[in-house]
Amino acid sequence: MRKFLTTTALAVSMMAGAAQAAENVEVLHWWTSGGEAAALDVLKKDLEAKNITWTDMPVAGGGGTEAMTVLRARVTAGNAPTAVQMLGFDIQDWAKEGALGNLDELAAKDGWDKVIPKALQRFSKYDGHWIAAPVNVHSTNWMWINKAALDKAGGKEPKNWDELVAMLDNFKAQGITPIAAGGQPWQDATIFDAVVLSLGTDFYKQAFIDLDPAALGGEKMKTAFERMTKLRTYVDDNFSGRDWNLASAMVIEGKAGVQFMGDWAKGEFVKAKKVPGTDFVCVRYPETQGAVTFNSDQFAMFKVAADKVPAQMEMAAAIESPTFQSAFNVVKGSAPARSDVSNEAFDACGKKAIADLAEADKSGKLFGSMAHGHANPAAVKNAIYDVVTREFNGELTPDEAIVELPAAVAAAK
Ligand code: GAL
Repeated sequence: MRKFLTTTALAVSMMAGAAQAAENVEVLHWWTSGGEAAALDVLKKDLEAKNITWTDMPVAGGGGTEAMTVLRARVTAGNAPTAVQMLGFDIQDWAKEGALGNLDELAAKDGWDKVIPKALQRFSKYDGHWIAAPVNVHSTNWMWINKAALDKAGGKEPKNWDELVAMLDNFKAQGITPIAAGGQPWQDATIFDAVVLSLGTDFYKQAFIDLDPAALGGEKMKTAFERMTKLRTYVDDNFSGRDWNLASAMVIEGKAGVQFMGDWAKGEFVKAKKVPGTDFVCVRYPETQGAVTFNSDQFAMFKVAADKVPAQMEMAAAIESPTFQSAFNVVKGSAPARSDVSNEAFDACGKKAIADLAEADKSGKLFGSMAHGHANPAAVKNAIYDVVTREFNGELTPDEAIVELPAAVAAAK
């Protein structure tokens, strides 16, 4: 009997040891800027408090292009991380390959179906099964304006294209760089999201969601490209290749007037202790009020060895807890991925993000962001990036771009 007990106790303690050693998550992500890292820290600390250690696998590069390349290499080598930050259609592509795990049990226990908006579930589920845990909802049709510069320009938020151009001209006259931009394809595409949306929500849908060749190659698209060409005249000489957070810093420091960027930019302002309404203003890109182009960061959970699954599930559960959703998104600049989280802890921009999202969802004006993988699979997205970037850099005229765009999309489909 004594021997039996000892053996059992040993086995139990060995199991506990094994379980303890397995309480680790390896997380691949591209949250390397100041604001992003601060937000990620909220998650790391939350898991540490649950005795789950964190193995960090950061891959710098806004928008995640580089991260997705590294991920492919890892999975090909048979060494998938536990969880991977991922956007929209990429999640579906990995699910299609059979690489992702199954979160159904946890999702059912915690009632995710009822609180996670359907627009996100469309990416978090594959074939009816939960495969990813959504962290947030960002949107791309924002402008981040230096308040002092705006005040000097008359203090009024530009409501249409002409007013936008007038504001940019005023910034130029003030001797600052009118537009803080980083010349990287995903950043050019982020601006393009807003420019296309400003020409009509139906147009955005026809072009980027339906991939209608007539919209991709029509007169309105020509106007969109002409506007990109005009915006390009307001960037500084060193914009090529600049990281997006360095562009945010230009607005923060008053060296530039405005940045067109998703609300992860707000994370940089918050990190620099800047206050909305006092140091900067967050307004929607002109003529996109009421509409939202969104992207949701989700952690896709890969198929991992059985002993790693408990930590993986704990991570997913932690992400969906309402307290975490508030704490994380306040720092990240995004809206919560659950519809039942109080907006109390959020600043004015965060409250606006949450309200805009609900309004756009209700009125049918909520669309997946083309630039951030929520309108099309990567092949199509990259084909659009290519044309947008070449046009923005003067390698194509708007007339040429509207011939190339439908052709590039057709070839990538
Ligand atoms: C987006 C992502 C954001 C932010 C941004 C810049 O694709 O959704 O969370 O990280 O890239 O890196």
